[in-house]
Amino acid sequence: MFTKRHLVEPGDFTLEEMDRLFDLAQQIEQDQGYLRESCRGHILATLFFEPSTRTRLSFESAMLRLGGACLGFSEPNSSSVAKGESLADTIRTVSCYADIIVMRNPKEGASLLASRYATVPVINAGDGGHHHPTQTLTDLLTIRQLKGSIGQLTVGFCGDLKFGRTVHSLAKALARYPGISMLFISPQELQVPTYITEGILKKAGVSYKETHSLEQVIGTLDVLYMTRVQRERFFNEEEYIRLKDSYILNREKMKQAKDDLTILHPLPRVNEIAPELDNDPRASYFKQAKYGMYVRMALLASMLGRC
Ligand code: NCD
Repeated sequence: MFTKRHLVEPGDFTLEEMDRLFDLAQQIEQDQGYLRESCRGHILATLFFEPSTRTRLSFESAMLRLGGACLGFSEPNSSSVAKGESLADTIRTVSCYADIIVMRNPKEGASLLASRYATVPVINAGDGGHHHPTQTLTDLLTIRQLKGSIGQLTVGFCGDLKFGRTVHSLAKALARYPGISMLFISPQELQVPTYITEGILKKAGVSYKETHSLEQVIGTLDVLYMTRVQRERFFNEEEYIRLKDSYILNREKMKQAKDDLTILHPLPRVNEIAPELDNDPRASYFKQAKYGMYVRMALLASMLGRC
């Protein structure tokens, strides 16, 4: 079902296929020995042309827990890319050494290109401001586990909705579930791209609204997806400094929120959630990071045909 395929963007898997991954991840969560050693003898290459903590380490941890091995780089200057090697050549070469490739690259479309040259499956771990499908699997699994199902929910996205690839991927994926309403909360300069709102949500008949005020809508939300302002994608540092603290979620703002609101954040957090909220039972971003590892275990074992 999952073998000989790539994961470049959230639409690459059907809802049924994603459900299968979520069921597997849930089984792993309940029985930590499940699928252990299932990938022994297999090698994962992690090619990170951009910084990462959770995505790279959770993939590596997932592969090690499955009994497989990992190689790769997290600093492109230590690879032949620094000598001017093309992405196509790097990917063709790594395909000779690994059974599956996870790649993050600052250029939009890089993973799609890599998938055309690879002779092993490629997983997109973020291509510029475009997509981040395994974060989306993480987010959807977290919602499913904490809310009971994915659907009939009002989901607020807050922060840098222009450059935040996790927002683009999650909004696109949620549009496929029933009864989802979306609220996009951002400064004017960081609004969600129209290819998402007009191109995807409107066409799919999904209800959505754009606003600048978190205070005005927080009380209506079931899920609040906070994001950092993506400094590395700004052309102008002054603009970043002006916008970086547009939203700071704190105890005061949470007074208006529902008792069963789920606060998510793909992390890293900069300033947008005050640490005073970390012990609030509604703060679910560290649980989310753990679900990321389980779903990546499910994904690797499935794509390698080991379950
Ligand atoms: C996100 C990313 O890389 O897009 N991080 C992650 O993978 N958990 C979010 C971010 O960097 O802001």
